[in-house]
Amino acid sequence: MSQTRSSVFFASTSPGLSDVGVRLSDSAKSSNLGRNGRKSNPGAPSVGSNSIEDTNPSSSPRPWHLGRVYAEQYQDRSVVDVYHLRPWYPEETFSLLAELCDPVCRRVLDVGCGTGEIARRLAPRVDHVDALDLSPAMLAKGKDSPGGDAPNLRWIHGEAESAAVDPPYGLVTAASSLHWMVWAIVLPRFAQILTPGGVLAIVYEHASGPPEPYANQLGKLILESLSDRGIAHREPWDLIEELQARNLFVVTGEALTEPVFQEQTVDEFVDSIHARTNFSRERMGAESAADFDSRAKDILLPAYPTGSLRMSVQMKVVWGRPSPTH
Ligand SMILES: C[S@@+](CC[C@H](N)C(=O)[O-])C[C@H]1O[C@@H](n2cnc3c(N)ncnc32)[C@H](O)[C@@H]1O
Repeated sequence: MSQTRSSVFFASTSPGLSDVGVRLSDSAKSSNLGRNGRKSNPGAPSVGSNSIEDTNPSSSPRPWHLGRVYAEQYQDRSVVDVYHLRPWYPEETFSLLAELCDPVCRRVLDVGCGTGEIARRLAPRVDHVDALDLSPAMLAKGKDSPGGDAPNLRWIHGEAESAAVDPPYGLVTAASSLHWMVWAIVLPRFAQILTPGGVLAIVYEHASGPPEPYANQLGKLILESLSDRGIAHREPWDLIEELQARNLFVVTGEALTEPVFQEQTVDEFVDSIHARTNFSRERMGAESAADFDSRAKDILLPAYPTGSLRMSVQMKVVWGRPSPTH
């Protein structure tokens, strides 16, 4: 896997930012090159027996840091307000997703859609998108954002595990969201609502952080802030591996979009950290958040004396078939 500086930054030195802490599994890495130069592995190998836990998902709890209490941070006003400052999806993400949608059913379900960063930009390329999320605040912002009122886009408030949806779908997308869901329920559910030619596409980001030694200093500050607030350190983990260990997902392909450069101010970059898990300003408290911001800016401004920074952003897409049962 090509690894940008930032995935190291967020995944290794900022373990509390759990929605960026996903890494690719070996089986995804070893897929063969397929059509359009994308990696593809239609006859994917069966899921290996080297499970990190047992293969019965009902007795394999997800990592503790993915509990509902953490997912609910996306209901906080302060998170929603700065959510758009997280790295945004390069255009190539959407051509790839449109290509993955079953040609006989151009209907998409985007689970954990948030403000619709995927749903709003995919809607013009397919027949219909259902965009589902459990946070009313994220949905409300999505509806008011560009493309949020497209006639072929329907916003659904609810849980991916149980909300009423309208199958069949030729594609289910989960962008920085599947880790929050109850895998033993949602993967079999996706298998039921997908067409025979449809796939689940899991999308997550690789965005560069500041250069060393600033990244290291910022990483330490992040860990310190978590520890001061009693939030335990967690080990790096791998979403695809976790799904495969539970026999819930068979990878058939993967792609990494070309790097694109995105610019933002140091202030915006620091704000964007507050759109990450465990950095909701509401939950940190005003004083702790202000102290974190001022220390983060003290670290970053020497690296970016003009006050603006340039990030290299790529998206990783791993797709395949969810298992109908476990
Ligand atoms: C990091 S955001 C990703 C939003 C969007 N997909 C994107 O890429 O920008 C994660 C989203 O998953 C939603 N979420 C978490 N658990 C969920 C569940 N069980 N069902 C539906 N949505 C869920 C959260 O409310 C949040 O909006």
